[in-house]
Amino acid sequence: MTLQVKTLAEYQDAYQKSVDDPEGFWAEQASTFQWKKKWDKTLEWNFKDPDVKWFVGGKLNITENCLDRHLADRGDQVAILFEPNDPTTPNTTYTYKELHAAVCQTANALKANGIEKGDRVCFYMPMVPELAISVLACARIGAIHSVVFAGFSAQALADRIKDATCKMVICSDYNSRGAKNIPVKKVVDDALDMGCDSIETVFVHKNTGGEVEMKAGRDKWWNEEVDAQSTDCPAEEMDAEDMLFILYTSGSTGKPKGVVHTCGGYMVYTCFSFRNVFQYKEGDVYWCTADIGWITGHSYIVYGPLLAGATTVMFEGVPTYPDPGRFWEVCDKLKVNQFYTAPTAIRALMAKGDQWVDKYDLSSLKVIGSVGEPINEEAWHWYDEKVGKGNSPIVDTWWQTETGGILITPLPGITDTKPCFASYPMPGVQPILVDSQGVLVEGNDVEGLLCVKFPWPSMLRTTYGDHERCRMTYFSSFENLYFTGDGARRDVEGRYRIIGRVDDVINVSGHRMGTAEVENAIDEHPNVVESAVVGYPHDIKGQGIYAYIIINEPVEDEDAFRKEVLAVVVREIGPIAKPDKIQLVSGLPKTRSGKIMRRILRKVASGETSNLGDISTLLNPEVVEEVIKGALA
Ligand code: WTA
Repeated sequence: MTLQVKTLAEYQDAYQKSVDDPEGFWAEQASTFQWKKKWDKTLEWNFKDPDVKWFVGGKLNITENCLDRHLADRGDQVAILFEPNDPTTPNTTYTYKELHAAVCQTANALKANGIEKGDRVCFYMPMVPELAISVLACARIGAIHSVVFAGFSAQALADRIKDATCKMVICSDYNSRGAKNIPVKKVVDDALDMGCDSIETVFVHKNTGGEVEMKAGRDKWWNEEVDAQSTDCPAEEMDAEDMLFILYTSGSTGKPKGVVHTCGGYMVYTCFSFRNVFQYKEGDVYWCTADIGWITGHSYIVYGPLLAGATTVMFEGVPTYPDPGRFWEVCDKLKVNQFYTAPTAIRALMAKGDQWVDKYDLSSLKVIGSVGEPINEEAWHWYDEKVGKGNSPIVDTWWQTETGGILITPLPGITDTKPCFASYPMPGVQPILVDSQGVLVEGNDVEGLLCVKFPWPSMLRTTYGDHERCRMTYFSSFENLYFTGDGARRDVEGRYRIIGRVDDVINVSGHRMGTAEVENAIDEHPNVVESAVVGYPHDIKGQGIYAYIIINEPVEDEDAFRKEVLAVVVREIGPIAKPDKIQLVSGLPKTRSGKIMRRILRKVASGETSNLGDISTLLNPEVVEEVIKGALA
């Protein structure tokens, strides 16, 4: 197993070593895995192209490391502990042996349906074990998985299928989420009607057993296909730098891009970070509440925990069903030791009152984590006192889809914690702050743009089908640096506090969204001339979506129009992108070169109507007054 630091001195020692001799440090970590062939060179890199390769020439299969290598020691230990949506349905479990067999069977079913190494397979699934099994089955045979969060619309799903020219979709019939029964297969059918010509096969997992239409020759029942196969499937030999998966994420411009992660480095870093951040010990029960449709689910429900031989909980439901005590009920029932969730969930549950958490026994908890967005001080304290009872350190973990794993975080019981601070870099991670000119911001008690100056094993390698976009987005702002898009503070003791995005990305309930993406969706409404979307502080969601819209024809019923706009956004992206507020305006404040002054719109949206800065240089200063009036109305 990879190194697990236990004391502050060990952390400091590992950190120093990882900076003085990164190749030596990571070679040592990598050597704890099963390789089919050892690598020739630990690292080759430049951030100019960019071109980053870890464990060059090494051959492996990540599923052998997630599954096969555990069979001798912990074959009968639970690997996946499934908690269904309905609390009265009993848990199901997969031991490492059972998971291994299920993955092999599914891998054989994929092969029998023409899936080969390098093919892309798209997922649109609920949080059920068959999702994790099928993802691992892809990795087993070298197919590249692209998991799409099942809350996205048919249009968004179709865009992603086309971008990656996927050959297969794996979905369920219906998803159970809280009291809802969501017709997933229908969404897939709609998406495939939008010209996804590359799709040859659809595997439908029978989840609720509800009625679905099956298209002859294309649609097959997952269950039947898998059951017919043998439980023996040799693992494909993969190069360390072969693609493992694509995961779409939003940026400040254009359509979401497919972040690409590769086999070797991702394996080493997710296992290493999982073991250290959660201080996982043999026999612990670990639960991350994320969805596998996001990077957190990839790295810290599936790969990290399984690589580390952990018991990982998969939860199908939602935090408030059947009541707001659901998370704590599960923690109590399953005796969860490490619990990892998002600030948005914490805030929502906090607002429901302490009685929901107080009635459960949470004494099994040792570490509680937070991810995806800044956690505000009030929520941090509530989490600490009510959930952690003051003796489970909070790991406020900062990272991104692009970073593949947690980069900045406290280590529980090892480094101290401070509300709102992600604290210290993981061993092997070299964050720095620069100013807008790219000049290094040195010393402590300073603020700047957060960059990373040296590669770490699980960093993105490219954006699928468009390497130039990867270079432009992450490596062109500042020479020889990976730019995160986040601003951060470094306090007097060197801890990092993440302030938030400095680009046009907003973070709504921990979901990343590009303002341009939402604007493009809104603009699809036939009566919309132009729109501008900004984020504003929201008590529960962290950020809410505020849309300023210019319309063509006057509308009689503004509320009806707003509803139409919401429906368009739901159609184009999905419910998670619905604006919380819509304001109709006759113009948008613009610079003389025609750029929307988002700074002003952001201020107005957050309720600030004075101190808007110099507006005299605007092309149309008069609209500012109108925008303010409308916002106050
Ligand atoms: C934000 C999620 C503050 C940040 C793993 C980042 C955070 C974006 C934190 C990535 C944190 C993530 N504190 N902000 N602990 N963690 N973020 O790609 O703005 O969905 O750039 O990855 O979320 O979101 P993504």
